[in-house]
Amino acid sequence: MNMIEIILKKREGSILSKQEIDFFVNGYTKGEIPDYQASALLMAIFFQKLNKEETFLLTDAMRHSGDVVDLSKIKGIKVDKHSTGGVGDKTTLIVGPIAAACGVPIAKMSGRGLGFTGGTVDKMESIPGFQTALAEEDFLALVNQNGLAVIGQTAHIAAADKKIYALRDVTGTVDNISLITSSIMSKKLASGSDAIVLDVKCGSGAFMEEEKDAAILAQMMVDIGKADGKKTIALITDMSQPLGFAVGNSLEVIEAIETLKGKGPEDITELSLVLAGYMIYAGEKATCPEEGKEMAEKALADGSALEKLRLFIEGQGGDVKVIDDYSVFPQAKNHLELFAQTSGYISKIEARRIGVASQHTGAGREKKEDMVDLSAGILLAKKLGDVVEKGSLLATVFGNDPEKIKKAAEEAIAAFTIEQRKPEKERLIHAIIS
Ligand code: URA
Repeated sequence: MNMIEIILKKREGSILSKQEIDFFVNGYTKGEIPDYQASALLMAIFFQKLNKEETFLLTDAMRHSGDVVDLSKIKGIKVDKHSTGGVGDKTTLIVGPIAAACGVPIAKMSGRGLGFTGGTVDKMESIPGFQTALAEEDFLALVNQNGLAVIGQTAHIAAADKKIYALRDVTGTVDNISLITSSIMSKKLASGSDAIVLDVKCGSGAFMEEEKDAAILAQMMVDIGKADGKKTIALITDMSQPLGFAVGNSLEVIEAIETLKGKGPEDITELSLVLAGYMIYAGEKATCPEEGKEMAEKALADGSALEKLRLFIEGQGGDVKVIDDYSVFPQAKNHLELFAQTSGYISKIEARRIGVASQHTGAGREKKEDMVDLSAGILLAKKLGDVVEKGSLLATVFGNDPEKIKKAAEEAIAAFTIEQRKPEKERLIHAIIS
């Protein structure tokens, strides 16, 4: 078998066989296929697409390209949750403690942020002392002890994805439904949980801007999870504006803590309760998602979810004082306030532009090896549909480097549109696919 024939076959729109897909995944993972041939095949896939069978085969080959985690030492039905990536999406930090407080064990592997979307691992590391590189034994023990632990995704899980994703990121081949599906599901299936709840974003800050594309992506991922015998549910949720008000690592953790104290923004609180409800249902602690949501509401109201967060932070070496004293987080030296130039309704806050602005502050990486500034980011003062007067505060940009703050401010202000007509409110949850 040779790579040129495989590239030509896909370029002409033919269907690849299992042997050809395995040849590509194994050869590229081992370094036997050069980047230029892998890039050519990815671009051929981007234009000609993979059918459902090819997508299943690609996912399976990637899943077995590295370690497959065994979570059997953890008692109960382990539930994983994954978001396809958004701006201001800190829900893992909220739904993890809620689900754990309701008796669902969460053993989660999370990634770092890349591009304009943030990663849970970077966010957690804004808590002084918090460790995300744990030995497997310690990780399993913490889940059994506290009901919840999060570690950084290692290069050994779905090893092919690490290499293929990095290549896609620099060859314009990220936003293809089959490539996203295989990337996410190979990692989820290799991570060992029994059930998976997927939060598939749609809107300007998501890979899939249109709901119909998000629905195809969601259905494909659900089918793959189910074919593997895992209860898999996908929610299609709105990413036309950032979630909540905070974008940036420590700013988002503070907002997550506020949400667990019952004082969070409306959209983050509602989305977290719905997602947690599905996780509690998938973990068989509730008979339906609605009952799961009621349990989630109770865990928020009675403080048990916040208590889980405390145990989770303490278990991973973090300073629990952050929960009561936000000055313990890294603090930005500078900030710049952005004001409305006209009066009216906020009719647009482009999530993608706010994500890019946050990246410019230093809160996100421009290149994989960049260090993130944990104190930097954007704090919105308004959401879609809010009324503003000329001169009203729209957002505050936080950072340490005045040049970066200026660049971020220019991008952030351009994300806002103010109009005289009241805009339609976007639905937070577009659809459920199960
Ligand atoms: N997240 C992933 O892990 N992979 C993708 O391809 C897109 C989002």
